[in-house]
Amino acid sequence: MAETRTALVTGGNRGIGLEVARQLARIGVMTAIGARDQAKGEAAAAELRAEGLEPIVVQLDVTSSESVRSAVEQVLHLFGRLDILVNNAGILKGSTEGAAASSVTSVTIDEVQATLDANTVGPLRMMQAVLPCMAKEGYGRIVNVSSDLGQLAEMGGGFTAYRLSKTALNALTRTAAADMGQGNIKVNSMSPGWVKTEMGGPNASRTVEEAAETAIWLATLDEDGPTGGFFYDNKLIAW
Ligand SMILES: NC(=O)c1ccc[n+]([C@@H]2O[C@H](COP(=O)([O-])OP(=O)(O)OC[C@H]3O[C@@H](n4cnc5c(N)ncnc54)[C@H](OP(=O)(O)O)[C@@H]3O)[C@@H](O)[C@H]2O)c1
Repeated sequence: MAETRTALVTGGNRGIGLEVARQLARIGVMTAIGARDQAKGEAAAAELRAEGLEPIVVQLDVTSSESVRSAVEQVLHLFGRLDILVNNAGILKGSTEGAAASSVTSVTIDEVQATLDANTVGPLRMMQAVLPCMAKEGYGRIVNVSSDLGQLAEMGGGFTAYRLSKTALNALTRTAAADMGQGNIKVNSMSPGWVKTEMGGPNASRTVEEAAETAIWLATLDEDGPTGGFFYDNKLIAW
């Protein structure tokens, strides 16, 4: 990259988000860790600072429009502009086993609404806050961390709330990419695979490093890179 880019990673205090923040900072991107708990964000930043990296931390709860507005304002104030947004924050309510067993008939409406608010409306709130600045700069890379559980082509049962939220996130990716057109603002979805984190659990097959690779690639796409796609390991996959 010719110039120093700036990034905001939501849910950057642990798991895949922290690894994405680490790898962005390592390649010289000025990186903001968004954390809904400031103290957890500071602890994550301290970990990166011990490695010689210099992230900043902003309090950011993607379910709060006020928190989103204030976090983006802080990043713009500190960095001057925002080039990269990684919509990583997400929830899977209950245990993995519980969510897997959560069918259309057993899922509660409260669970569906809370999951959509965090996993789908949250990224929309973020996009509404950052896209005007990206449009002004004529540059933007938005990475929506989705899931193969949101893939219509492979859709199965269980995980009802989570599946709905990630399929809708993919729809948001395509809508936003179409709205932005073929210019230099690129919006893509990715599946990280099944990853060893608090959400994925210890038996997951992939590391956060493997999961972060596609996010970093999409966050740093050249001007002729893709937009409006769904990727796994840097390869296009079916919706
Ligand atoms: N792990 C997997 O196998 C897997 C597979 C497919 C997709 N994904 C997706 O990858 C992304 C990251 O997952 P992960 O495995 O790293 O999960 P994780 O370890 O559970 O981390 C989730 C992160 O999101 C944050 N978060 C949750 N709700 C938030 C909110 N309302 N506002 C701001 N931050 C919020 C959490 O903050 P707190 O620390 O405050 O809770 C945490 O930083 C998610 O979107 C997930 O759906 C994961």
